[in-house]
Amino acid sequence: MFDTKRLSICLTAHAMLWLIASTVTAQAQLAPTPQTGAGPMYRSDAPATVNLWQPGDPGQPLHIDGWVRGTDGKPIVGATLNVWQADATGSYHEDRYRATLRTGKDGKYRFSTVLPGQYYSAKHIHVAVTHEAYEEVVTRILFKGDPHLDEVTTRELAIPLEEGTIKGKTFLFGRFDIVMQPIGQK
Ligand SMILES: [Fe+2]
Repeated sequence: MFDTKRLSICLTAHAMLWLIASTVTAQAQLAPTPQTGAGPMYRSDAPATVNLWQPGDPGQPLHIDGWVRGTDGKPIVGATLNVWQADATGSYHEDRYRATLRTGKDGKYRFSTVLPGQYYSAKHIHVAVTHEAYEEVVTRILFKGDPHLDEVTTRELAIPLEEGTIKGKTFLFGRFDIVMQPIGQK
């Protein structure tokens, strides 16, 4: 005889397993970092350095680090970051506050700079990330609490900054993780 009660229990268990499996899959898939466009101040010839800041520069010294990962959560080794920003007064320069850097074996990057001044919109640092196996990410690092944050996208990209000291000097520290979409997987 057909046991409808048992069948419904089996179906329920199956549905629950599917739900758990799909939840686990969803957790493993990270959303790609929102794109904001490069704006007019991009240059492709930024020097290879992790230091955009020089002693004597005005502004608050700032350390940024982060993890570049694929949507599968795995670190991306050897991604290239082009970073550019305004100085502490909000002015862009052709030969300053620009850098090209790469992620290490752990998929992490870091650089030192100063907190940029305001330039039309909220304070921001431009970042363009490339890797042969991933879609380019062109985005901006923004800062929580900035009264000029407006669009939803820019609010998503805003990171908190914490104050700390290194050898008695005060720095701001922020972490900005980047997620890249593999080419051909839309
Ligand atoms: Fe800008």
